[in-house]
Order: sequence, then C-alpha cells, then structure tokens
Amino acid sequence: MITEVTRVGGEWLDLREPADAAARDPELVAHLRRHLPPTACLVVHDLGCGTGSMGRWLAPLLPGPQHWILHDRDEDLLDVAASDPPGPAADGAPVSVEVRPSDVTLLRPGDLTDASLVTASALLDLMTRDELAGLIDVCANAECPVLLSLSVVGRVDLVPPDPLDSHVAAAFDAHQRRMTERGGLLGPDAVAAAVKGFRLRGAEVLVRPTPWRLGAAEADLAAEWFTGWIGAACEQSGDLASDTCSYARRRLAEARAGELAVTVGHADLLVLP
Ligand SMILES: C[S@@+](CC[C@H](N)C(=O)[O-])C[C@H]1O[C@@H](n2cnc3c(N)ncnc32)[C@H](O)[C@@H]1O
Repeated sequence: MITEVTRVGGEWLDLREPADAAARDPELVAHLRRHLPPTACLVVHDLGCGTGSMGRWLAPLLPGPQHWILHDRDEDLLDVAASDPPGPAADGAPVSVEVRPSDVTLLRPGDLTDASLVTASALLDLMTRDELAGLIDVCANAECPVLLSLSVVGRVDLVPPDPLDSHVAAAFDAHQRRMTERGGLLGPDAVAAAVKGFRLRGAEVLVRPTPWRLGAAEADLAAEWFTGWIGAACEQSGDLASDTCSYARRRLAEARAGELAVTVGHADLLVLP
C-alpha cells in the first residue's frame, strides 16, 4: 500500500511533551556531558524538532552557552518552536535558537560539520532504511555525539489486558512499517537499524529503554494515544475495523476515565563517535 506521510499536529506534540520529558533517559545525558567537545558555544542540530520539546528538555541539562539549530519540514511547527525556546543552560549560560526549514532526508555529508551535538526525537521510525543510512552518514561526518530519543520499539502493554490488544498492536506495527512513495518505513525496526548502522561505522552506541508509563494522571494523553493507535491499526487492516467497534469504544472510555494503564515502548540511543 502506498500512503502519504501524515503531518504531525502541534497539539499532539504539546500533549505528549511532559510524558516525553519523563521518559527520556537522564543517565545518557550524564554520559553525553563527558563527551561534548570543549568549545566556547555548543552548536546543537535538532533534526525533526517539531515544536522544540527536545531542546526545552535537554538544553537546561547541558553546560555552557548553546546555539540550537532546529530543523523541520513543517514551518508551522518551527514557528511554535521559535516562540517557545529552551531556558538557560545548566550553569545559567545563554541558549539561542535558530529555525531551519528543511527536509532532513536531503542533508548531505558535510552539512552538519559545525555540530557539537546532533539530536533527534521521535523521528527515526518515520524514516525509510535508505533515509536512515543517509542520516547515519551525515552524523558520522559531523564526528560528534548523537542523541536519538524516543524511537518506538513496537511494545505496547495495556492493563487490564484484553484479548484484542495484541491484534491491534500487530496491525499498528504493520501500519508503522507501511509502504510510502519514499519506500517502506522502518517503524519499530528503526532502533535495531540505527544501532547496527552506527556500530558498522565504528561508533559506540548506548541504548536505554524509555517507555511512556501513562496512568490516571495522563488520561488525556492515554485517550489521544489510544485513538491514534486504533485508528492506524484499522486503516492498516480493514477487517479489524468491524471486529473492534465495541472494543474501541470500551477501551477509549477506560482511557478517558484513567482506568487504563498504558505502557508504550521507546528507546533512547546515545552515539559516541
Ligand atoms: C513525531 S514528531 C517529533 C517532534 C519532536 N522531535 C518531538 O520529540 O516532540 C516528528 C517530527 O519530525 C518532522 N519530520 C518528519 N520527517 C521529516 C523530514 N524528512 N525532514 C524534516 N522534518 C521531518 C515532523 O514534521 C515532526 O515535526
């Protein structure tokens, strides 16, 4: 099936920002701090920045002056990112941002050679294998650490469980791996492909599980996530749509009421050249 890549909504990114911040791995940041190049001002390229949540989380955990270059192909999201920049660095040093409308799959080796750090968050699973290989080339040429946060790994747990959960999960994963005009998307295979690609380049790659754990306090996010999850699964598998009508209604009501505990598997990768 050929499917266009859909735009990511700013409201969805706002809703998930606190859960993303809670899930990201601070221990990898401690490692990262030890491997940052000594420089008067860190230059950080955030690829597929969305509304800039990665910078708002990470910049205050890093020392010294920083200049963040925020890349996204969606100029509406870049406008939001520019209007809500990160706070100061860990030691109070200034942090500046610049937005750069761009398709990160068109970056060339040599384009990020000014980088002290490359970051991306919730991006890898949206790429094809060839696009990821190109990104790995670009990062390897930058010869700096790379922090790749919150890539989905295809593990979802719902409590209380339901026999239909695993059918929906399988259809959702197939949707994530769907064919597009650019090729098949990596979806939950992105982490393994990135680890392999960077290690073949001789880089050290640290991997940490960074799941969302959504409970009653995150009922709005759980309900929105569930709606997207079942919607994608039904788009992928037409038969599922008729089989899951009452399941979908019941599970959504549980999520809205804070009665569904949702764990969504992600991983963070720190690549050290
Ligand atoms: C799931 S969102 C994550 C946004 C942000 N990194 C975060 O963690 O909140 C993926 C983002 O990548 C952007 N994106 C996807 N493919 C892209 C590409 N080829 N070039 C530039 N941006 C891209 C989307 O526009 C979207 O903002």
